[in-house]
Amino acid sequence: MTDGTGGLDGRSGPVSMAPLDFPAEVPWWRYAVIYEVYPRSFADGNGDGEGDLLGLRNQLPYLAELGIDGIWIAPWYPSPMADGGYDVSDFRNIHPLFGTLDDAAAVIREAHQLGLRVIIDLVPNHTSDQHPWFQAALKAAAGSPERSLYFFRDGKGENGDEPPNNWISCFGGSGWTRIVEADGRPGQWYLHSFAEEQPDLDWTSPAVLEGFDEILRFWFDRGVDGIRVDAAPALGKAEGLPDADYGGDLRFMTLDWVDNPHWDVDEVHDVFRRWRSLADTYDGDRVFVAEAIVSSAERLSNYLRPDEMHSAFNFPYMKASWDAAALREVIDATLDQFHPIGVPATWVMASHDEVRLVTRYGRKTTSSAHFSDGQGEASNLALGTRRARAAALLTLALPGGAYIYQGEELGLPQVEDLPDEAIQDPVFKRTNGEIRGRDGCRVPLPWSGTHPPYGFSPDGVTPWLPQPESWTSLTVDAEAADPESMLSLHRSALRLRHQIPGLRSDEFSWRNSADGVLDFDRGPTLRCIVNISGEPIPLDASARVLLSSAPVEQSALPADAAAWLAAD
Ligand code: GLC
Repeated sequence: MTDGTGGLDGRSGPVSMAPLDFPAEVPWWRYAVIYEVYPRSFADGNGDGEGDLLGLRNQLPYLAELGIDGIWIAPWYPSPMADGGYDVSDFRNIHPLFGTLDDAAAVIREAHQLGLRVIIDLVPNHTSDQHPWFQAALKAAAGSPERSLYFFRDGKGENGDEPPNNWISCFGGSGWTRIVEADGRPGQWYLHSFAEEQPDLDWTSPAVLEGFDEILRFWFDRGVDGIRVDAAPALGKAEGLPDADYGGDLRFMTLDWVDNPHWDVDEVHDVFRRWRSLADTYDGDRVFVAEAIVSSAERLSNYLRPDEMHSAFNFPYMKASWDAAALREVIDATLDQFHPIGVPATWVMASHDEVRLVTRYGRKTTSSAHFSDGQGEASNLALGTRRARAAALLTLALPGGAYIYQGEELGLPQVEDLPDEAIQDPVFKRTNGEIRGRDGCRVPLPWSGTHPPYGFSPDGVTPWLPQPESWTSLTVDAEAADPESMLSLHRSALRLRHQIPGLRSDEFSWRNSADGVLDFDRGPTLRCIVNISGEPIPLDASARVLLSSAPVEQSALPADAAAWLAAD
């Protein structure tokens, strides 16, 4: 098979590592492609089976060569790892597993030298239960200033042994846990929207607001270009903490929640306005990207007002099924909402929370409304891979920015057979093993060689999550040597993204097309066609294919394939 590369020198090979070449007046992040690094699973520099910052530094040239514009580093802070690092015990330090603050400075410096921007992950809705703030709150009395940083409340019922309200945890079960007071008696309850090791902060507390101002300054002073804001809509809670109406579905389905008292409450925006004015005191173009899974493009656009955040992941796009009408609907809704307010869309298909795309797209259920969707369904990985290749060309052709989760550029499948004892995701425990959770997309990357640990760690060292024996053809080395690989396709697409001006503009228009086909122009020179019709479709005999996800033979684009054409 060929990746159909032709025309504009689309083959992979060494690329220029010059800084971004956007015109000065276009902010760097507007059309940037950002690569998500999950540091524990990216590369192990010190040989202990865990990814770390030395490993990341060693592989920065790989990322520059891939052709991305920046990296987002998932939490790198000290953490007991009750939720893969999203339980932070010190927001101004680096997890000893990953390195030191000096290593972080080196990552930022060396990334910048390669022309890559650096976005870090901030987790403001909650701390770890080991954070000094929470430890002090546990030791202090009910009603104390220490407890006012969190949501401590008395329980309901005669003995206070029922939770203060009916709010649920994203990971299953109640959102409340009861503590044992210093005198040994059962005491107050605290709120945790996620695992019980992740107590929610009360963002009406001045100490929380001021504490996070310092955290933001700490990292902006160290030169980070942006901050990804974890679970942004969780920061506001309706006054009085009234019961929620979940309509009988006790899953954390925030895309469906309207007027929920602990998600996307309007007061949340006061926090982001405060942060924006802080960020704007810095030179350079420091950006916020919201993780905000909310009920509509309109609600999402509230986070993107000129005095709030700069961009936000497009979750409805990520979660849509592999279906032309569904994708077109979400693309239209996004552009209709964002274009008038001048905000770029941010297209994303995968992350450390989602089932790997080649697995998801090879299943019967290709949407992913909830992280348990499709679990247990067989996946046709060859089909999933064809679709994921086409989806990569679609995503990278849409107007705005894009995110690529580590390993998606290799087409890694979800590891679905991790032994129970290896699973660390709190979802697994909180649902009594019913939902296996997200570890299957967090298995350490294969870099080289023919057997685990595939160059992730030195031979003989077992990585923190076991890698499959079947990844020999999916290593970076193997794929770099194969012009038809997923990696080569990504390298070619990312290079073209820098070469074709239309791809760094907002120009976008649909062409008339048959059912099941997405067909659009990006400026005068690029046309993208995605065939989800189930049948091959004819292309004009004169069409010049710049890049395609599957071979274009006899002027036909196969099913589940996409092509970038020189527009006529
Ligand atoms: C976000 C993160 C996820 C984490 C959760 C709680 O959704 O992406 O990994 O578990 O927030 O912090």
